[in-house]
Formats: sequence, structure tokens, C-alpha cells
Amino acid sequence: MILPIYLYGQPVLRRVADTVTPEYEGLGELIENMKATMYASEGIGIAAPQVGVSAKIVYIDASALKDTFPELAESEYVLINPEITVLDDGKRLSRDEGCLSLPGIYEGVTRTEKIRIKWQDENFVEHDEVIEGYLARVMQHECDHLDGKVFIDHLSPIRKQLIKSKLNNIVRGKVHCDYRTRGAEAKGKR
Ligand code: NI
Repeated sequence: MILPIYLYGQPVLRRVADTVTPEYEGLGELIENMKATMYASEGIGIAAPQVGVSAKIVYIDASALKDTFPELAESEYVLINPEITVLDDGKRLSRDEGCLSLPGIYEGVTRTEKIRIKWQDENFVEHDEVIEGYLARVMQHECDHLDGKVFIDHLSPIRKQLIKSKLNNIVRGKVHCDYRTRGAEAKGKR
């Protein structure tokens, strides 16, 4: 089932998400719904808070970018309870990022594209890998969502000031999207 994407301004995006246990009810269905929602909105990653669920779950499939980044051809991951350590010996660079919860906003974000990430998969098998390149960026972006952060939090105060009116429009629900969203207009209906 395709779920609405929660837009910037919705409190669920600012919460630290809850740890997921094997007893979590409906986990398989939630992951399937996150996948369907991500593909329908042409994203390359999605975090559970973006569909209104405060749980440490991320789904990534960045294979759509394989022409630019060949290493992304096999980049499908279900990350449960991920923990990232940014490794200092990686390259630190700025690249444009976007987010399904912030339609129309694309800004350069400086990150180190080398991480160590520990997570559990959908069967709660533990994984521990070092990831480099663009995928490390996607993982950091998605895992930020589980800490109640969004990519614009990484921008300079000046950059943030320059996009302020766009952000306010998203908060007010004044935004056009090709996918279903949940924003201020839905909150106003009682
Ligand atoms: Ni995002």
C-alpha cells in the first residue's frame, strides 16, 4: 500500500524514532508499504518517520542512480536499528541532496562519505559494514531521519535563511507534489 509522505513541519519528523524489536507488530507489512511508497514517489531511500511511523526502520534502493554511480547497481538495504560511525579518513565533500519530505528543495550538504554502519535486517540478523561513496551519504541522510533530523539541518544559517520562504510554504502545505503527502492541510481537517 502506498502511504502519504509526511512533510517537513510534521512533528513525527522531529522525534527520535523508537528502537524496533522482533515483536514489532506488522513489521513485514510496514517495510513492504515503505518500499511501495518510495518507488511510487521516485525516492532512493525512505525512513519510517516519513510515513508517520516513529520506528528505526530505513529502506534504501539507490539503483536508479547507477548510471552516475555504478557502485549503486546493488544497493538495496533494509536497515533496522542502524548505528552509524562516520570514519575520519573518508573524503569530505558537498553534494546536492533532496528529500521526499522537503519537495522542491535541493541543497549541497557536506558529509564524509565513509562510514561504519551496524544494523539488523528484517530477520534481525546483525550486520556490520564499512560503506564508502554516495551510498554512505544516502545512509547518513536516511539515518538522520531516525534521530529527528533532516538534511537542511546541515546547512549554514545563511543558506537556511535563503530557503526560508520555501520551507514556510512546505510547513503551511502550500506545495505541489506528484505523490501523496500529509502536511498542514490534513492537520487542519477535523
Ligand atoms: Ni529524507
